[in-house]
Amino acid sequence: MTLLELTDVTAFYGPVQVLEGISLSVPDGGAVGILGANGAGKTTTLRAISGTVRAGGSIVFDGKDIRGSRPDQAAALGIAHVPEGRGTLGELTVRENLRVGAYLRKDRKAIQTDIDYCLDLFPQLQDRIRSNSSALSGGEQQMLAIARAYMARPRLLLLDEASLGLAPSTAKDVYQAIKRLRVESGIAMVVVEQNANLAFTLVDSATVLETGRNVITGSSAELKGMDEIRRAYLGG
Ligand SMILES: Nc1ncnc2c1ncn2[C@@H]1O[C@H](COP(=O)(O)OP(=O)(O)O)[C@@H](O)[C@H]1O
Ligand SMILES: [Mg+2]
Repeated sequence: MTLLELTDVTAFYGPVQVLEGISLSVPDGGAVGILGANGAGKTTTLRAISGTVRAGGSIVFDGKDIRGSRPDQAAALGIAHVPEGRGTLGELTVRENLRVGAYLRKDRKAIQTDIDYCLDLFPQLQDRIRSNSSALSGGEQQMLAIARAYMARPRLLLLDEASLGLAPSTAKDVYQAIKRLRVESGIAMVVVEQNANLAFTLVDSATVLETGRNVITGSSAELKGMDEIRRAYLGG
């Protein structure tokens, strides 16, 4: 079953059109990458899905056209967005951030179980549970941002450059944990990454954007085999 389908999605900032008709298809439980250079429109595509930028075209989630939904409506439908720059609440502790992630949930009893799961997924957060998130390292903040999104128990997770600014070994740890989360939770994912090597460890398929358009879409195996992808995104 298809969980999310974008067809001919457009978006503007003021008078400037930055998405020129994006397509994207995410199977239920699938993980799809969005690759491309700086400014290609990756972040704006995620914003269109989570309702944080106004979009044209069609955005169908779980059989409903959600284009034009507000961010809180998209969240209530099960779409969790981990934005570029992480967006954790710096004045709140790690535990408080995790609780905020669960604010829409009615199953209060399962929340502690899920906090324990997050701490098992990201053991570094266990030692920092009472620290303000502003005191965490970049890697720990990224882990907290992902864990907080998971606390909403979403059906779809939007991840924007989870590896940005992290040491290579930390980025690898973060992606290992996301992979484990994917397998254990079955949450579908849209993964924006500049580091295509990392993205391909997680996603089944991907699309490459250039100036607000899809230029290549294919399975991870197909894309990894293409010379132009290797040259542009895989360092060889
Ligand atoms: N808030 C904004 N206001 C005006 N232009 C923006 C804004 N955010 C992004 N843009 C422009 O939109 C285009 C796409 O940006 P973005 O989606 O952030 O690309 P990416 O995430 O692929 O780097 C770029 O040309 C960028 O400069
Ligand atoms: Mg971006």
